[in-house]
Amino acid sequence: MDKIVVEGGVPLRGSVNVSGAKNAALPVIAAALLTEGDHLVQNVPDLADVRTLGRLLGHMGCRVERLPGPRRGLAVRVPVTVLPEAPYELVKTMRASVVVLGPLLARWSGARVSLPGGCAIGARPIDQHLKGLAALGAEIRLEHGYVDATVPGGRLRGTAFAFDGVTVTGTENVMMAAVLARGETVLRNCAREPEVKDLADALCAMGARIEGAGTDEIRIAGVDSLRPVNHAVIADRIEAGTFLVAGALPGNDITVRHCVATHLEALIDKVRGAGAEVREVPEGLRVIGDGRPRPVDVRTAPHPGFPTDMQAQLMVLLSLADGSSRITETVFENRFMHVQELLRLGADITVEGKMALVRGVPGLSGAPVMASDLRASAALVLAGLAAQGTTEILRVYHLDRGYERIEEKLARLGARVRRVKA
Ligand code: EPZ
Repeated sequence: MDKIVVEGGVPLRGSVNVSGAKNAALPVIAAALLTEGDHLVQNVPDLADVRTLGRLLGHMGCRVERLPGPRRGLAVRVPVTVLPEAPYELVKTMRASVVVLGPLLARWSGARVSLPGGCAIGARPIDQHLKGLAALGAEIRLEHGYVDATVPGGRLRGTAFAFDGVTVTGTENVMMAAVLARGETVLRNCAREPEVKDLADALCAMGARIEGAGTDEIRIAGVDSLRPVNHAVIADRIEAGTFLVAGALPGNDITVRHCVATHLEALIDKVRGAGAEVREVPEGLRVIGDGRPRPVDVRTAPHPGFPTDMQAQLMVLLSLADGSSRITETVFENRFMHVQELLRLGADITVEGKMALVRGVPGLSGAPVMASDLRASAALVLAGLAAQGTTEILRVYHLDRGYERIEEKLARLGARVRRVKA
C-alpha cells in the first residue's frame, strides 16, 4: 500500500491542468448501457473509480477499452444483450455504481444491483433513486442486499416525480431511466450540479429529449431508441477547486488550466473572502495566496451552493487564518473525519454536530496522518504542503479514487511530494 510524503513550506509556482470530471464520467459511461453499439467517452480521467465501472460493465458483457492519445478516450462496446447485474463485490468498492440501475431498467426492463451499503461520510441511502424508478413503473424488491427490479409491460412510463431531497446520482439515475420511457416525465427538486447537466448533454447527443437540466425541474420526452454516445466530459471542478485552495495557501501563485469558472463560483467567493486573489486568465484561473488568510464562515449546500466536496480542503486554508471560522456541513452527516488528523498537524478545531469551529493558528507542523475518504485525503495533502517539516499520508487509495497522479501534478508546481510504498 502506498503513502504520500510531503515536505512542506515550499512555495508553489506555475500552472496545472485539470482532468475530466470523475462525477461526470461515471454516469456518462453508465449511459452507454441505454443502447447497444460502440460508444466513445472522451476526457475521461484515469482513476480507480473509472476502472471499477469498467470492470462492472465488463461483468455485464460490455467491452471497455482505454484509448491512447491526448483525447483521453474510453471506448465502450455494448452487446445486443447484457447481463443486467451489478454484484456486491464491485458495488462495495464504488457506491456510484448504482447509476447503472436506471439505464438497465430503461433498456432491459430488469436489473439486479447490489445495495451500496454505508460510507465513511454518511449513511447515504438510495431511497430517492428507488422511489423515482418506482414512479416510472418499476417494481422494486430489496432482497439479500440487492435491489431486484423489473418493469411490468416491458417499458417504463412517463410521470411527474418530486425528489424529497436533492440527490445528484438520484437525479441522474431517474433521468436516464426516463429517456426511453413511454411519454413525458417531469422531475422536480432535482440536483443542479454541472455533472447532471453534462450527463443530459451526453444523453441529448444520443438522441434523448431533455429540457431544464441544470435547473431544479427537468422535463424528459421519452424516445423509442438512442444512438451510441460520443461525448467529452467537463473538467473536474472539485480537482480544480482543490488546486485553487492549494494556490490560496500563503506564498503560493498558481494557474489552474482548463477549469470552468462558472462551476466554481461559490468556492471562488470563499477563497477571495479569505484574502487570496483569484483572477480569470485565458487558460483558466490564477490564484495567489497573499499572506495570512482571513477567517470566513462556510455552509455546504447542493449546487450552486458551496460544494461539500470542497469542505475539507477549505478547512485547511481556514485553519491558518487570522481568526475563527465556522464551517457547517449540511449535505452529509459524518464529513468531519479529517478534523482529528488536522489536529495532529497542529490545527485548532472543535466539532459540535454539523458545525466545526476553526480557530486559525500561525502554522502547521508535519506528522504522519491517515486518510479516511477521498476529499479528506486531498485536504491532508494540502495541509502537508502548508506544514513545516514532513507529513506522511497513509491509505492514499482513497486519493487515487478521485485524483489523477496528484503528486506528479503538485511536483510540477515545485512541491516536494512523492509516493512511496508504505
Ligand atoms: C454525489 O454523490 C457525488 N458523487 C459526491 O461526490 C458528492 O459528495 C455528492 O453528490 C453531493 O454533492 C458522484 O457524483 C459519483 P447525493 P451522491 O445523493 O449522488 C441523501 C466525491 O467526493 N440521500 O446528492 O451519492 C444522502 O445521504 C463524492 O467525489 C438520501 O437521503 O450524493 C446525502 O446526505 C463523495 N436518499 C444527500 O442526500 C437518496 O436516495 C446528498 O446525497 C439519495 C441521497
